[in-house]
Amino acid sequence: MTRPGMREQYLEAMGIPVWVQRDAADPEPATGDVQLAGVPDPEPADGEARLVDAGRTVSREAVRTPGAPGTPAHQRAVDWSELQEEVRTCMKCALHQGRTQTVFGVGSRTADLLIIGEAPGAEEDRRGEPFVGRAGQLLNAMLGAIHLDREDVYIANILKCRPPNNRDPKSDEAATCTPYLQRQIDLLQPRVIMALGRIAAQWLLQSDAPIGRMRGRTFEFGAGATPLVVSYHPAYLLRSPLAKSRSWEDLKIVKRLLRTPE
Ligand code: URA
Repeated sequence: MTRPGMREQYLEAMGIPVWVQRDAADPEPATGDVQLAGVPDPEPADGEARLVDAGRTVSREAVRTPGAPGTPAHQRAVDWSELQEEVRTCMKCALHQGRTQTVFGVGSRTADLLIIGEAPGAEEDRRGEPFVGRAGQLLNAMLGAIHLDREDVYIANILKCRPPNNRDPKSDEAATCTPYLQRQIDLLQPRVIMALGRIAAQWLLQSDAPIGRMRGRTFEFGAGATPLVVSYHPAYLLRSPLAKSRSWEDLKIVKRLLRTPE
């Protein structure tokens, strides 16, 4: 956890005027509708529980996946390792041809907060870790502003391989890669998901709504009805600093959700 006194520094790094911080101790309740959503329906492996079930709430118990919280620690570790190895060697779509390496995800495997971005960029492809470029530095500052370190959360992308020239993911690539993300979600069972950027948000919520209409509210994601908050991609914030104050509002929603007892 970040020391409370550091928040001003993080807010400044985000480019948020420090006076905004006065609200931070008392985040606004999440506003707007709560909507049900789920990842687009990947084909489950035989025998695998189908967690993805937009619009229908199934209890977490009913959909518990092997290796998810509640299963023995060594089994969880095995399940994570198997998944990581599958991703590392994946050749299910053409993106494997251009990658240096896959970018599986990083962070605490017991994290309450899962951050989902779009796809690795050049730096992430080189280093094998999501959000390590300039956008990643801003993401770290954003997390710091709500008293979280990068190591406290789990960070993953919709795509595990870098699209050429950083183009947007194609929907068939996202569909092919989504079962990996879904298994990460099943294993992690996060309390809150934060989708960063239009591409991640539209894919996860299966919506074509503009990001301005999706942010600032709480959706319910998947069969576990996990609260999902949409916000701007840090790369967009670097180009459009005026959006940072709205991003701060979204972070306060996340913080409030994390504080809400289960
Ligand atoms: N942008 C993303 O969406 N993900 C990364 O990992 C890096 C940049």
